[in-house]
Amino acid sequence: MAFFSKFFAQPEPRALGIDIGSSAIKIVQLKKKNGQAILETYGELALGPYAGLSVGQAVALSPDKLASALSDLMREKEVNVTTKACGLSIPFSSSLMAVIDMPEVSAKELAVMVPIEARKYIPVPISEVMLDWSVVPKSDVRVESVAEEIGASGSFGETPAALARADVLIVAIHKETIAHFQEIVTQAGLDASFFEIEIFATCRSVMDEGLRPVMIMDMGAASTKLYIIERGIIRASHTINRGSQDITGNISKTLNISQEQAEVMKRQTGATGADKSVNDVIALVLDYIFAEANTVLLAYEQKYNKTVSKTILVGGGAALKGLSELAKNNFKTEVELAAPFSKVSTPAFLEKILYETGPEFAVAIGLALRKLAEEGE
Ligand SMILES: Nc1ncnc2c1ncn2[C@@H]1O[C@H](COP(=O)(O)OP(=O)(O)OP(=O)(O)O)[C@@H](O)[C@H]1O
Ligand SMILES: [Mg+2]
Repeated sequence: MAFFSKFFAQPEPRALGIDIGSSAIKIVQLKKKNGQAILETYGELALGPYAGLSVGQAVALSPDKLASALSDLMREKEVNVTTKACGLSIPFSSSLMAVIDMPEVSAKELAVMVPIEARKYIPVPISEVMLDWSVVPKSDVRVESVAEEIGASGSFGETPAALARADVLIVAIHKETIAHFQEIVTQAGLDASFFEIEIFATCRSVMDEGLRPVMIMDMGAASTKLYIIERGIIRASHTINRGSQDITGNISKTLNISQEQAEVMKRQTGATGADKSVNDVIALVLDYIFAEANTVLLAYEQKYNKTVSKTILVGGGAALKGLSELAKNNFKTEVELAAPFSKVSTPAFLEKILYETGPEFAVAIGLALRKLAEEGE
């Protein structure tokens, strides 16, 4: 028996998700066993120190430096990555997206029509970008949300003519961006089968099947990215020029301590600690972010006459203690800290730490899940 089961055993598929952010690299390795995604290892590495800055700060590094940082992380004893099969994220800022209205024609006809239509939305020559698109059926609405849909469009309803058209989501990425990431992959000795814009990976790891609009707030080091997602489509997006490193900077200036000390303090005390003066300094940054986010929310709700049901917090900045309580007080939506590790099977003893650090790994987990599905085919 042992002989036969070994003989016929398939190798267990493994997959690596790699999220190269502006301040840190995050990786997650999964394996598939009995049809389940199992967490094998994960890790993160701050990039600031690779450019003479401190942990938690955003930096721009060459592909060379990024590849060696990535190799360092994969080789770390506690991390110990054992597969080359990976998928990488592309920053949202390096992408261009638009939803265009097209007649409902065959895929073959779309392949001709979309690139022509896309020219109107893409400010660089089409030959310089990789173009991808997907049709978003307008009729893809489940019964329970039909009432809301009809309510949303007032008394007009959908005319038969409107049904003969389709929304097509077009996504363009500059070829130079792909080349940049491909170079990192090659230098690190890895095999990437796809490059995915970070928000799509995040959606995979933090969203359920719900059809109501949801806001995702990704708080990174230098900026905070906002997205409104509805039925799997990004309906609105906005980048706020403030992030978690601004909190560290403010603490450092106000308390006259080093960046490193301020970073430690931020992570230890959080936004609702015992020291009111620290809370106030942190609130200065958060209030600005909340105000902008509310503007985006309101604009969306007014434009589409829909209510955003929930805000999901992701990114390293969302790991700030007390942030979700403050967000609850500031948003009229429900607020939820992303728990992407709940999409994979994890050891019980890691539960607490994975919950706390989860928001940071949303992109890497989403990438690993997609890659694992590919490997299992
Ligand atoms: N436990 C924590 N408490 C507070 N802040 C934290 C914590 N952990 C990380 N951060 C902060 O999160 C920020 C990094 O977040 P993240 O890793 O999501 O950014 P990034 O992916 O590099 O940025 P971007 O996506 O904008 O390129 C840093 O500024 C860091 O100080
Ligand atoms: Mg990020």
